[in-house]
Amino acid sequence: MSGYDAAYAAWRADPEAWWLEAAAGLDWSVPPRRAFDASSGLYGRWFPDGRLNTCHNAVDRHVAAGRGGHTALLYDSPMTGRVEHITYATLQSRVARLAGALAARGVGHGDRVLIYMPMVPEAAIAMLACARLGAIHSVVFGGFAAAELATRITDATPRAVISASCGLEPGRVVPYKPLLDAAIGMAAHKPDFCLVLQREQLRADLTPGRDFDYAAEEAAGEPHPCVEVAATDPLYILYTSGTTGKPKGIVRDHGGHAVALHRSMSMIYGMAPGEVFWAASDVGWVVGHSYIVYAPLLAGCTSVLFEGKPVGTPDPGTFWRVCAQHGVKLLFTAPTAIRAIKKEDPEGTHLAHHDLSRLEALYLAGERCDPPTAEWAAAKLGKPVVDHWWQTETGWPITAGFREFGLFDPRPGAGGKPTPGFEVRVLDASGAEVPPGAEGALVIKLPLPPGCAPTLWNAEARYREAYLSTFPGFYDTSDAGMVDGEGFVWVMGRTDDIINVAGHRLSTGAMEEVLASHPDVAECAVVGAADGLKGQVPVGLVVLKSGAARPEDQVARELVALVRERIGPVAAFRDARVVPRLPKTRSGKILRATIRKIADGQEFTVPPTIDDPVILQEIQEVLAR
Ligand code: COA
Ligand code: AMP
Repeated sequence: MSGYDAAYAAWRADPEAWWLEAAAGLDWSVPPRRAFDASSGLYGRWFPDGRLNTCHNAVDRHVAAGRGGHTALLYDSPMTGRVEHITYATLQSRVARLAGALAARGVGHGDRVLIYMPMVPEAAIAMLACARLGAIHSVVFGGFAAAELATRITDATPRAVISASCGLEPGRVVPYKPLLDAAIGMAAHKPDFCLVLQREQLRADLTPGRDFDYAAEEAAGEPHPCVEVAATDPLYILYTSGTTGKPKGIVRDHGGHAVALHRSMSMIYGMAPGEVFWAASDVGWVVGHSYIVYAPLLAGCTSVLFEGKPVGTPDPGTFWRVCAQHGVKLLFTAPTAIRAIKKEDPEGTHLAHHDLSRLEALYLAGERCDPPTAEWAAAKLGKPVVDHWWQTETGWPITAGFREFGLFDPRPGAGGKPTPGFEVRVLDASGAEVPPGAEGALVIKLPLPPGCAPTLWNAEARYREAYLSTFPGFYDTSDAGMVDGEGFVWVMGRTDDIINVAGHRLSTGAMEEVLASHPDVAECAVVGAADGLKGQVPVGLVVLKSGAARPEDQVARELVALVRERIGPVAAFRDARVVPRLPKTRSGKILRATIRKIADGQEFTVPPTIDDPVILQEIQEVLAR
């Protein structure tokens, strides 16, 4: 039996014992006596009687163990030319003071704090300060527009917002403060106060009485101790795209999250305290929450916080420079980043300039990894390249390769095998299990393991409806795929209206809502078309109202601007096309899957239910332009 098979079998034989053993790796003020309570929550709750503090486990306990002088966060910003080492002791002191400042202004256990920040250490410090107080943070990605921020403020009703004067994108400074002001103006709820980190690239005007200088507040804060919370208390809300314009507030709890992430660091990534881990993502995404901030710190590692891009900051060798300079042992990024590097440096010339002897593996996630990209990286790096599959909802990998048990032989295109804790099945539309190798809906047998979302913020019924109702007894991942005869899981794509653009999860439904709001648009459809760099990009097809006031190309330009204004630049919506009609079934359902095939130039069969097949030719002609 392989190491993996033995571990998976041990978990299956006694999941409660497995998770209680994992929980013993953390400090608890009240250690859990039970791993699981099947009778509470939507599918049960983990560590129902345990009490702890996540910030204590991520920061203070390492200082108490004499590791205060080790680097906790390593900030490397090619955008500003800065490299900064923040030790565990410094992190403890800064987090405690910021927590004190927040507490002095009334933030306490259970209050929400919205964090809208670029990739600076203060973003992680703000998250940890909330965790320290038992306050619930909600980080919003910087590439979202004011309207998206407003939706999140209205839903989370934060007492405070922590933001910065600006973000830095290649070639432009992104002023955050006007976006924040506009969002607060639009939101139904108003925060009591805002802390604004003034960056030297662009200082913001502060609103008297509401906005305070972040640095001054942190410096003057009275160090606050860690507040003991229930393992089942929420640690954070992270909004992610659903199938409509209203995002889903994914809730993460303290105990299960800390246990699962801590265990994952050794089991999946093979990391030990003191070693350097780099997740090249953004704190605004789940990868950033889990593997820039919480997991590496819970494990006592050094986490690299990188403010830059894989290419252009300044060149496609940046990732390799960071790995070499800081002795990164494990790099985690999205396949898009590797595709971007490969496009600019196909021969790997930049790679050869750096000593990557300390890098042991590259892990990829966030979108399907095309085999040529994985093969290119493996060949150029000469290290294992491991694809692993997860979602914002699960918070950590559903399937992976496991360095603790010995990596599987490479299998480009597959996402590894199920992580102990996850029982993956493939079902057909009727809910029956399909044989190995056959495609179907990828589902996880309940209960979900620790670390997965127990609910949606203020929307328990939506959770039940979105994830638990289609296949009773299972969590529906909304991904399609298969499990092969050897147990490898192959993820082929989403079964809903979510697309993955450069590893960023976006809702085509939300974009359709924006397009439909244009006065000249009668109806529309947005699909994700295949893209060699970003994996997918959105393409919008619109039918204009008869007698539309503006010419077609003007409408198309306005629609592109409208999506950028309402959702944000991250939507990468650049392609709106006017079509005479949209293909529909006789019952009026838009045939989005067929449109997607046409956009990708793939063969398609004319659906028997279509009301008028000629429309497909019309669409083909418009998309060919
Ligand atoms: N704040 C403000 N704007 C942002 C932003 C942020 N945090 N992040 C992205 N944007 C903007 C970009 O500037 C760009 O704006 P533009 O339309 O004016 O050029 C737009 O959003 C799209 O950004 P992006 O999708 O990042 O495309 P890009 O062309 O700038 O870069 C890559 C392409 C491949 C280099 C980039 O997408 C990348 O690094 N991908 C890796 C993805 C990743 O790490 N995902 C995390 C999941 S693990
Ligand atoms: P997010 O919630 O942003 O992490 O996006 C989750 C979605 O990204 C999943 O449901 C998948 O569709 C896709 N995804 C993430 N990782 C992988 C992977 N390794 N292989 C294929 N698809 C992936």
